Amino acid sequence: MKIDFRIEHIDPMGQGVYKSEESDPEKRKITFIKKTLPGETGIADVFSEKKGVRFAKLVELKEMAKERITPDCPHFAECNGCDYQHTTYEKELEYKQAALARHLFKFPGVKINVHGAQKRLGYRNRIQLHYNKKKKQLGMLDGQMNILPVPECKIISPGIAFELRSLYNQNSWQGLLSKEPVEGHIELYAKENIKGHNVQLSFNKPYANGGFTQVNFEMNEELCQWVQNAANEIIPPKAIVYDLFGGNGNLSAKLKNSTIVIDKYRHLPEQRAHQKFFSQDLYDKDAIRALIGLKNLGHPRPQWLLIDPPRSGLKNIQEYLNEFKPDGFIFIACEATSFARDLAAVLDQYELKSVELFDLFPSTQHFETVGIFTRRKNN
Ligand SMILES: C[S@@+](CC[C@H](N)C(=O)[O-])C[C@H]1O[C@@H](n2cnc3c(N)ncnc32)[C@H](O)[C@@H]1O
Repeated sequence: MKIDFRIEHIDPMGQGVYKSEESDPEKRKITFIKKTLPGETGIADVFSEKKGVRFAKLVELKEMAKERITPDCPHFAECNGCDYQHTTYEKELEYKQAALARHLFKFPGVKINVHGAQKRLGYRNRIQLHYNKKKKQLGMLDGQMNILPVPECKIISPGIAFELRSLYNQNSWQGLLSKEPVEGHIELYAKENIKGHNVQLSFNKPYANGGFTQVNFEMNEELCQWVQNAANEIIPPKAIVYDLFGGNGNLSAKLKNSTIVIDKYRHLPEQRAHQKFFSQDLYDKDAIRALIGLKNLGHPRPQWLLIDPPRSGLKNIQEYLNEFKPDGFIFIACEATSFARDLAAVLDQYELKSVELFDLFPSTQHFETVGIFTRRKNN
């Protein structure tokens, strides 16, 4: 069904929002239309509708916003990977800051410091593609879950882009998948920021197979540097730090503090004298007990925590804080909704000192939210 629209604002997921204006409030609908901008009018095609909420695909623009620019990527209109290439990077950062501010309504008065990226394109060192051997399709899923070929994807780094084009060249990907199921996924990734040929492929393995690494090397460096500076300022040098969901110890790599890096998956860490690694499922019901047990292995309890969970966050963070009573913690969230949900619950005990938005995912709706929390007096 085709509808006329006028976009009111951009939502936290980077979608344009249109509210219909029927006089009967019962009949009013809200429609989310990706790749549109505030003030724009046009025609969109509704592809899904539930309880007065519609999702539609942009068909035609009648009035264009002055912030609209031509996307660098030829796949942008169809591809679900990017959300902001149709506007300037300054605007993208504004929308992201507004999205975060909206999520942080339970933390009134907090200022958001924005750390934009140098490179808006050519940064991603990891891409996951879906394939269907029968249909001879390889690509990203579009809004309707169809596979869209993306040989010219612009946000991936040059090494990954080279490998991607070779996969598409004469459909060479099909030859690589002879032993794989009819449908599945391929991941291309580079784990180190070295020039040349370090791109690897995996077939039908879980995301970030072989160990999580951040997808944006340059911005990850900035984030780690910022964590180091913040830690030097607020964490006493003798304080013990637990780096929860620490992966390969990336975020605490530059700390001066003695640190225990805890992650479910044991990764091969670089040799850093101040870091010890411990493997633990932190969502397990006995996780806290296991961490308490670290003292039997000669590891003191932590005075500060770094917490960098996956998208689902850390719902029982309160239990960790009640047990360890750290002087403070730095929380790094790749999902602002879980940051807001998990941390609003601890505000009685901990004060939010600052919030940073690090744009590790330019051109897309995603970003990292970093908050420093310190224990309130009398707690
Ligand atoms: C957002 S990443 C952060 C990794 C690391 N801090 C970094 O900067 O590279 C989340 C980490 O959580 C780990 N993880 C996922 N599920 C987990 C679980 N149930 N228990 C502990 N760690 C988990 C992943 O292995 C991954 O390293």
